[in-house]
Amino acid sequence: MRLDNKVALVTGAASGFGQGIAETFAREGARVAVVDINEKAARQAAASISNKAIALRCDVSQRADVDTAVRATVDAFGRIDILVNNAGMSHVRRPMLEVEEAEFDRLMAVNVKSIFLFAHAVVPLMRKQKSGVIINIGSTAGIRPRPGLTWYNASKAAVNLVSKSMAAELAGDGIRVCAIAPVMAETPLLPTFMGGDSAELRAQFKATVPLGRFATVADVANATLFLASEEASFLTGNVLEVDGGRCV
Ligand SMILES: NC(=O)c1ccc[n+]([C@@H]2O[C@H](COP(=O)([O-])OP(=O)(O)OC[C@H]3O[C@@H](n4cnc5c(N)ncnc54)[C@H](O)[C@@H]3O)[C@@H](O)[C@H]2O)c1
Repeated sequence: MRLDNKVALVTGAASGFGQGIAETFAREGARVAVVDINEKAARQAAASISNKAIALRCDVSQRADVDTAVRATVDAFGRIDILVNNAGMSHVRRPMLEVEEAEFDRLMAVNVKSIFLFAHAVVPLMRKQKSGVIINIGSTAGIRPRPGLTWYNASKAAVNLVSKSMAAELAGDGIRVCAIAPVMAETPLLPTFMGGDSAELRAQFKATVPLGRFATVADVANATLFLASEEASFLTGNVLEVDGGRCV
């Protein structure tokens, strides 16, 4: 199996991409910490994955929560080989000046500050091991922005770029850092991105994807598995678009 003997911590793993990534990693042999602000859903996801998964409640924007989740993962499994910073949120699609300051602050804390906090908690461990992989879930939104999602787009541009910067800085420690940039997908976040939900809206957004469909959870989980595996041992600083050609 491709992740035998590996330990992974996946944030936002109670739903959507994170849940798919956690399931895929476990199937490939990893022991997984399912980390999410929604404790009940995290417990359900971990139970459905396998007895090799644990569930941890954590708000990724809070330093104490992040430190506790990292400590609990190490206590349970002894180490962390793979960190997936996936937890994220968006403001509902609408004109940029209609998004309130508090919503902007929350968005940046959950999407961007979380990576800062997890870096502080996990990089020292990976440095000691002289190995590790960090994968941040960015977005095509940070490469080819759509109107109505301006502040979300900015947060994901930060995620994409910080992945490259961390890769450059941590390569000497044997730590690889990559980002995944998915196009819109069928997860609970989709109506937030579209600013509603209807057959017309779906058709309108799909028409902007050359391959003519939304991303699936499996598309993103498979790409994340590849970057986390030894097959990608010479890849760092990549922002892998999983987007049916949207960014071409
Ligand atoms: N769905 C898409 O179209 C799409 C496209 C590109 C990128 N993304 C990104 O993919 C990631 C996952 O999104 P998804 O579509 O699977 O969404 P989702 O809503 O299905 O899952 C997000 C998970 O993150 C958790 N979460 C939210 N805030 C949290 C916090 N503060 N602390 C801990 N957990 C928290 C939620 O409880 C949920 O379980 C996000 O970073 C999102 O921005 C999504």
